[in-house]
Amino acid sequence: MKKLFLLFFLLPALLAAQGGMWLPMHLEKQNEKDMKALGFKLDADDLYAPNRPSVKDAICQFSGGCTGAMVSSQGLLLTNHHCGFDAIQTHSTLEHNYVEEGFWAKTQSEELPSPGETAMFISRMEDVTALALQNVTESMNERDRQSQIDKNLAQIRVSTKKEKWEEILIRPFYNGNQYFLFVTVTYTDVRLVGAPPSSIGKFGADTDNWVWPRHTGDFSMFRVYANKDNLPADYSPDNKPLNPKHFLPVSISGVKEGDFTMIYGFPGRTDEYLPAIAVQQTGEVLNPAKVNIRDRALKIMDAFMRKDPGVKIAYIARYASIANAWKKWLGEMQGLKTYKALDKKRDYEAEFTRRVQQNPGWKFKYGNLLPRLEQTYKEMEPYAHARDNYLEIFVRNSELLGMVASLNSWIKSYEEGGVSAFSGKLKDAKSRLDGFYKDYRPEVDQAVFAALVELYAQHVKEDWGAGFVKSEATNRGGYDKLAAYIFQNSILADRNKWEALVAGDPKNLGEALKNDPAVVFWRGASNPYQAGVVPKLQELQSTANLLQRQYMAAQLEVFKEKRFFPDANSTLRLTYGKVRGYSPKDAVIYDFRTYLDGVMEKYIPGDYEFDVPQKLIDLWKTKDYGRYATSDGRLPVCFLGSNHTTGGNSGSPALDARGNLIGLNFDRVWEGTMSDLNYDPAICRNIMVDSRYILFIIDKYAGATRLIEEMKVVKK
Ligand code: ARG
Ligand code: ASP
Repeated sequence: MKKLFLLFFLLPALLAAQGGMWLPMHLEKQNEKDMKALGFKLDADDLYAPNRPSVKDAICQFSGGCTGAMVSSQGLLLTNHHCGFDAIQTHSTLEHNYVEEGFWAKTQSEELPSPGETAMFISRMEDVTALALQNVTESMNERDRQSQIDKNLAQIRVSTKKEKWEEILIRPFYNGNQYFLFVTVTYTDVRLVGAPPSSIGKFGADTDNWVWPRHTGDFSMFRVYANKDNLPADYSPDNKPLNPKHFLPVSISGVKEGDFTMIYGFPGRTDEYLPAIAVQQTGEVLNPAKVNIRDRALKIMDAFMRKDPGVKIAYIARYASIANAWKKWLGEMQGLKTYKALDKKRDYEAEFTRRVQQNPGWKFKYGNLLPRLEQTYKEMEPYAHARDNYLEIFVRNSELLGMVASLNSWIKSYEEGGVSAFSGKLKDAKSRLDGFYKDYRPEVDQAVFAALVELYAQHVKEDWGAGFVKSEATNRGGYDKLAAYIFQNSILADRNKWEALVAGDPKNLGEALKNDPAVVFWRGASNPYQAGVVPKLQELQSTANLLQRQYMAAQLEVFKEKRFFPDANSTLRLTYGKVRGYSPKDAVIYDFRTYLDGVMEKYIPGDYEFDVPQKLIDLWKTKDYGRYATSDGRLPVCFLGSNHTTGGNSGSPALDARGNLIGLNFDRVWEGTMSDLNYDPAICRNIMVDSRYILFIIDKYAGATRLIEEMKVVKK
C-alpha cells in the first residue's frame, strides 16, 4: 500500500517535464524532445551552437547580476528598469531627473556612457569534468581535494585555446560533481539609451514587488559599443555600436495561454537539492531571523522617509534593495509551509532510502548519507543562525557597521604595519567613503543601529559577541544612548570629521580610526563571533558540502529515470514552460495577463508607488495603442509563465517557440518565491513584461521611433 502510494505520488513528479535551469550545450541530449512536445519549433542547436551564430549570441550577463538581450544589429540591449537603475540614477540631476521623468537619447551621440555597466557574452562552453577532477581521489579530505582541483583548473586555463579578448570561467556544477568551462567576451563601453519614468518602469514599487497581478513596465535600454574591429574596448568616442553575432526579433504577435515559452539568461543561485532538514532550517529558523531584523530596519527607514522628502530620495534605492530580499524570504517561508515542501522532500527522501536499501552496492555507498546530512545540518543550526544575525546586523543593515566591516582589514594594516602599509590603500578608502556619504543620513542609521544591535544582544549567544553588546549598552545607559555615543564620536559617522582627518597626516588618521568608537564596538562584537562561530561553521559547512556532493551523485545514480538540472550558479541557462495563470488557493484563480486598464485601476495620483504619468493616462483614454493592442483592443502589460527562474534572470528575454522576443522576465509570483528551494510547477510562475507594452512605451509614449525602426519587429 505504502509503496503504491509512493509510486503514485512520485511518478508525476518524476516524469513531469517541468522546472529546471538547463545547460545550453546539453539541450539536445536532455531537453529537445520534451521541448518539441511542448511546442518548440526550432532545434536545440539553434539555441546553442559553439561554432556558428545561435540565439545564445544575443544573450549577455548584464553588469554581473542581471541578464540582457541584443535586439538590433547595432548592439541595442534590452534589460530591466531595475537592472539599469544605477545607471539611470547616476545620470540624474535635479534639472534632469531621469529616474522621475525617464530618458530617451534622440541620437547615438546622446547615449550616455555608463562606466561600471558591462555585457558579458558566452563564446562557447565545454565539459571539463575529467580534467578538473584528475588525480582527485575518494580518500582525499576536502582541503586536499580542493587544492588538487585548483591546480587542475589552473592547468585547464592555460591550455584552453582562446582569443586575446576572451576570458575563461570555470564553475562547479551538480555540487562539484561536474565542471564546465565558459569562454566569455566582456564589453565595457555600455551606454544608456532609454528608460521610462519610474512611474512606469517601477510602477507598484515595493508594494507590488513579488506579487501578481502586476503592472510594471520594468525595462530599460542600453547600447553596447566596440572598437573598430567589433571587439571589447573601454569607452572611447571613436567606438562603434557592437554588431552582435545574433540579435532577437521582437514579436508583436501576442501570446495566449498554453503557448510555449523559454527564458534564456543567467540565473544566480538555487538550492533545489537540500535535504528536508536544511529546507526546514531555512524556513523556520534562518529566514525568520533575517526577516525580523529587516522588519525593524525597514520600519525605521520608512518613518524617516515619510517625514522628510530629502531622506526619501537618499534612501529609496537602499530601501528597495533591503525590502526586496526581506519580502522574498517572507514569501519563501509562507510558500514552503502552504505547499508542503517538507512533506514533499521527506517523501522523496523516503523513496531514495527505499531504493538504496534494496541495492547492496548503493546501501554501502549511500546508506548513511541522509542521516549524516541530518546530523550535520542540525549541528550547524546555532552557528548558521548566529552567522545570519551577524551578517544582517554587523555587515548589511547598519551602514556605519557595514562601513567598518569593509575598512577593518585596512585599519588593521595600520596597526600592524604603520603608515606605510596603510597609505597605499588610502585612495581606495577615500573613494569608498565618498560614495558612502553621498546618500548617508546619520540620524537614520543611528536609529537603525540602536534597534539592530539590541536584537543581536537578544538573539545571539553571549559568548558570540552578544555579551559584549549587552555590557556596552548597560555601561552607556541603554541602546539609544549607546548609539548616540557612537554616532556622536565616530569620525566615520561624520563626513566633516572624516574629511578633515583624511586631508591631514595619515598617522593621525590611523590613530583616530584605531580608537574610533564605531571600530572599537564593531571589533568588540566581531572578535568573539569570529572566534566562536566562524571556524566551527566552516568545518561543518565543509562537511555539508562533501555530503551534498555525494547526495547529488547518489540521486543521479539512484533516480536514473529522472532528469536533473544543476543548481543555478550565475551561468547561462535555458528554462522553458508555457504561458500560464495559476490558482494559489481554493476558488482563487489568477489570469495569465494584465492590461493597461489595470494600471489605471491601481492609479493613485501623487503616490510614490502608484502615480501614473499624464501622457499614459491620455493614451489610455484615447485607446491609442496602434499595432500593440490585443485583438479586442486592449493594451497588454505583463504576463505569466511556468518558467523556472531566479534572481539574475531579471532582464532575461522571454522567447517564443521560434526564438522571437515576446517579453522580458523581471519577477516571480508571491506564492512561488519558494522556487529556489522547492520548485512547484502548480504554483511557481515567472512574471514578464509583454514586448508589446515595451514597444508601445518606446513608440507611442516616448516617441523614440528611431529605436523601433532599428529593431526587427515581427508579426505572424
Ligand atoms: N523582485 C524582483 C527581483 O528580485 C524585482 C526587484 C526590483 N523591484 C523592486 N521593487 N525592488 O529582482
Ligand atoms: N527579480 C529577480 C532579478 O532581479 C528575478 C527573480 O528573482 O525572479 O533577477
